[in-house]
Amino acid sequence: MSKNVLIMAGDGIGPEIMEQAENVLRFVNEQESLGLEFDHALVGGASIDAAGVPLTEDALKLAKASDAILFGAIGGPKWESLEIAIRPEKGLLRLRSEMELFGNLRPAMLYPQLAEASSLKPELVSGLDILIVRELTGGIYFGQPRGIRTLENGERQGYNTYVYSESEIIRIGRVAFEAAMKRGKKLCSVDKANVLEVTELWREIMTDLNKEYPEVKLSHMYVDNAAMQLIRAPKQFDVIVTGNMFGDILSDAAAMLTGSIGMLPSASLDKNNKGMYEPCHGSAPDIAGQGIANPLATILSAAMMLRYSLGHGATADRLEAAVSKVLDQGYRTADIYSEGTQKVSTSQMGEAVLNVLKSSN
Ligand code: NAI
Ligand code: MG
Repeated sequence: MSKNVLIMAGDGIGPEIMEQAENVLRFVNEQESLGLEFDHALVGGASIDAAGVPLTEDALKLAKASDAILFGAIGGPKWESLEIAIRPEKGLLRLRSEMELFGNLRPAMLYPQLAEASSLKPELVSGLDILIVRELTGGIYFGQPRGIRTLENGERQGYNTYVYSESEIIRIGRVAFEAAMKRGKKLCSVDKANVLEVTELWREIMTDLNKEYPEVKLSHMYVDNAAMQLIRAPKQFDVIVTGNMFGDILSDAAAMLTGSIGMLPSASLDKNNKGMYEPCHGSAPDIAGQGIANPLATILSAAMMLRYSLGHGATADRLEAAVSKVLDQGYRTADIYSEGTQKVSTSQMGEAVLNVLKSSN
């Protein structure tokens, strides 16, 4: 059965890194007869320039009809003076909300070859491989009521509502347990159950779900301790699951442990494991058009797409191994370059990955 992949390259370095990721995907598709079919659509500034809006109805329709989306990056100085409603970011936010992409998977991996890029000691982070599963469409970022009101005494008061319903917790819990099953079978649920009733319910539901996944070793941790442990001994974790706000903060902190934004992929999944896959970085206007951007985060996003949405876990493993191999071979784009390695361009890095894949089958 063929599956459809929609490619949305976006702006800035988006098209440059996407070209390499698409080459790699098309190659494994042929080599392993995966039956993938590719389509393209504009998004972000590129779509504003062509059609006046950051996401056209046609592009949204294509996205909804596809099995997975590989997304580059959007935005840039050219569109910064536009009003918020028609800014490039709206294209991304609309895709997330219209497709109900509530399950955000953010790995923090540090290839041993790049251990020096981290702000922590190499022995603490070398070989780090954790996955943060963040709930993306609920919690305090979306809860109602919200606003800024003036009290009777004239004082202003800002308020937000922290709310998660059972079904929301169960569905993100399943994403996390499923991910843990595909990895080291260890899941840490992060909450603040000693203070917040919402997360008391969260903890109870995660514990219940564990019965459906008895092979997964579940633990619970308060978010303040989790922040400490992430810095103190990050390799103790395999998969972490948490709500929208805690996940926002913890996943950025974890990303920085690796020190290399050009290497980090991400996924956002719906309830059927359809999803959108994108590098964690933005459109990097400062280096766009120079052919020096690192395409590996996008290639690793394509690997996640193969694993989580397209049912080709073994191919995903091969892609990830190929990325590790090119690092072994000493190839580095400028962002991860250090003395004694070989500096390469965006397309040379893509070629290097392709060459490993060509010789490994
Ligand atoms: P950024 O991630 O684009 O860039 C931060 C720094 O990292 C820059 O120095 C850039 O050159 C470098 N960098 C990023 N990706 C790289 C890669 N693949 N290879 C080598 N170096 C890389 O974040 P910034 O500068 O805050 O935002 C730039 C634009 O991107 C803005 O318009 C912002 O709104 C947009 N953005 C879009 C995102 C998305 O599409 N999901 C996410 C974050 C920002
Ligand atoms: Mg953030």
